[in-house]
Amino acid sequence: MDLELKEKTVFITGSTAGIGFATAKALLSEGAIVIINGRTSTSVEAAINRLEQAFPNETITGLSADFSKQNEVNSLLENLPKIDILINNVGVYSSGSFFKTEDAEWYRQFEVNVMSGVRLSRIILPSMLANN
Ligand SMILES: NC(=O)c1ccc[n+]([C@@H]2O[C@H](COP(=O)([O-])OP(=O)(O)OC[C@H]3O[C@@H](n4cnc5c(N)ncnc54)[C@H](OP(=O)(O)O)[C@@H]3O)[C@@H](O)[C@H]2O)c1
Repeated sequence: MDLELKEKTVFITGSTAGIGFATAKALLSEGAIVIINGRTSTSVEAAINRLEQAFPNETITGLSADFSKQNEVNSLLENLPKIDILINNVGVYSSGSFFKTEDAEWYRQFEVNVMSGVRLSRIILPSMLANN
């Protein structure tokens, strides 16, 4: 099926593994240009290598950033290329005791799960709206 995604640039947060990685594969099979994300350049490069083996003719790049770290998020936002499709996939949770979970952990999860999508959408959505 042709979803008309050829040459569209897609940024997928949290895509070195799991659902994000599977999404990258699905979009590459449609001919999209995919930008991978994970917390470290090592994990991002490893994911790119795996994808390049499966999709040698497609364009795959990466941007590492830990969405729980404000300085890394700021740097990511400053270095984003033009994005056609944003997939706010990244999400974390901890299954520890409610009574023992400290404020810092709640804030970390809020930063990663909620503010990652807020900050990226705020930057990327205007050009998407302009492109209809
Ligand atoms: N799996 C499920 O059954 C399920 C069900 C419902 C909803 N979800 C949601 O679907 C999304 C994907 O889940 P998943 O199971 O595929 O996740 P996963 O397998 O745990 O994958 C986590 C991905 O997120 C990246 N990541 C983790 N913390 C990050 C951070 N602070 N900053 C940037 N990247 C980070 C990891 O990259 P590195 O390790 O390279 O840093 C990895 O690529 C999440 O939002 C999850 O809540 C999952």
